[in-house]
Amino acid sequence: MTFLRLNKKSQMAAAIGVVLVASLLYFYPSKACQFPAIYNFGDSNSDTGAASAAFGRLPPPYGETFFGKPSGRYSDGRLVIDFTAEHLGLPLLNAYLDSIGSNFSHGANFAASGSTMQPVNAKLYEAGFNPLSLNVQRLEFEQLKDRTEEIYAQAEGSQITSNLPKPGDFSKALYTLDSGQNDLHYGLMKLTMKQLKESIPYIINQFSLSIEKLYQKGARIFWIHNTGPIGCLPFFVITTPPKREDTDQSGCINSYNEVAQEFNKQLKEQVSKLRTQLSGVALYYVDIYTVKYSLIREANKYGFLSPFGYCCRHYGDSSLRCWEKEIRNGTEIFATSCSDPLKYISWDGIHYTEAANKWIANHILDGSFSDPPVPLGKTCRSPGFSN
Ligand SMILES: *[C@@H]1O[C@H](CO)[C@@H](O)[C@H](O)[C@H]1NC(C)=O
Ligand SMILES: *[C@@H]1O[C@H](CO)[C@@H](O)[C@H](O)[C@H]1NC(C)=O
Repeated sequence: MTFLRLNKKSQMAAAIGVVLVASLLYFYPSKACQFPAIYNFGDSNSDTGAASAAFGRLPPPYGETFFGKPSGRYSDGRLVIDFTAEHLGLPLLNAYLDSIGSNFSHGANFAASGSTMQPVNAKLYEAGFNPLSLNVQRLEFEQLKDRTEEIYAQAEGSQITSNLPKPGDFSKALYTLDSGQNDLHYGLMKLTMKQLKESIPYIINQFSLSIEKLYQKGARIFWIHNTGPIGCLPFFVITTPPKREDTDQSGCINSYNEVAQEFNKQLKEQVSKLRTQLSGVALYYVDIYTVKYSLIREANKYGFLSPFGYCCRHYGDSSLRCWEKEIRNGTEIFATSCSDPLKYISWDGIHYTEAANKWIANHILDGSFSDPPVPLGKTCRSPGFSN
């Protein structure tokens, strides 16, 4: 290497040159987007505290790996939405429904665990799904936006606005969505396969209505996750072991994953349709299904144990699930976690560990699973945008 033959001074100069070029390449022209805010919608895959605030606090050991206490997230640590916010240099999103110490100056999270894309009805509610479905989440957003604008109009510059977004930022913000898994979950529990498949167009239509309404409220850039391989969740593989002919090469439930794929196919088609209907919209369809499935199929290769094991389990002889607690002899007991959550993909049988979420986030944020294939950090440069 010629570099080695240079004297100290020129070595230094060369090194500075390399650093300069590298930083120029890094910051210009590929500098990541400065999104002022993220607004997120969905279910437990991206809930950062809504269900926990509304329906009872999530117990330990949730949150133990990263937050050191339950944070309202259904994981031992951060979720894909958290890694997404970090990637964009934004603070982690507070749940809109969490009234204790929340700060929405850089966005808000409307996602709620146990929520569906379709509006909840008595049947869904009885089956354990909650009323914070996507249409309600969208109404929460509208309220945040309308009242923020009202407060700014009345009290510009005063302290009252320091935990609220800036009115001008709504149209420059990133809108993310990860929903649909519970619609499938409900169907798999309560409907026949045929009925479930027939219900998909209705569910997708509800998705479409929400996107249109958000668009009417000024949202322009959307990053939409499809739904994951529900047939690979340990909860299903273990509680409803598939027949041999319904087990795929990775040990997942084939028929369950087929429904998820059908849902995703229709979601993708609808996203394409919306692109032609809403002028100036930028819709990114993100194939998180394939990313999650790859991780599960080659768990060992990526340093994880069996994808059907999970870290947080019942305590002693009790049948406690991770999200439950019990009073024994006057003291609360909780489920217990494994000693090595970093080695597990699943945290509690349904939700992913922080380690898995980080792996998944790393694979989607660079755009390699997006349609169109644009890294998240460049999506603000979609035609028609300049922030
Ligand atoms: C909210 O967060 C912003 C940005 O991080 C900060 O400037 C502001 O002071 C915070 N507001 C409150 C009330 O904590
Ligand atoms: C509850 O307390 C009684 C009396 O101290 C004890 O014998 C029993 O083992 C305790 N049960 C549990 C589950 O800890």
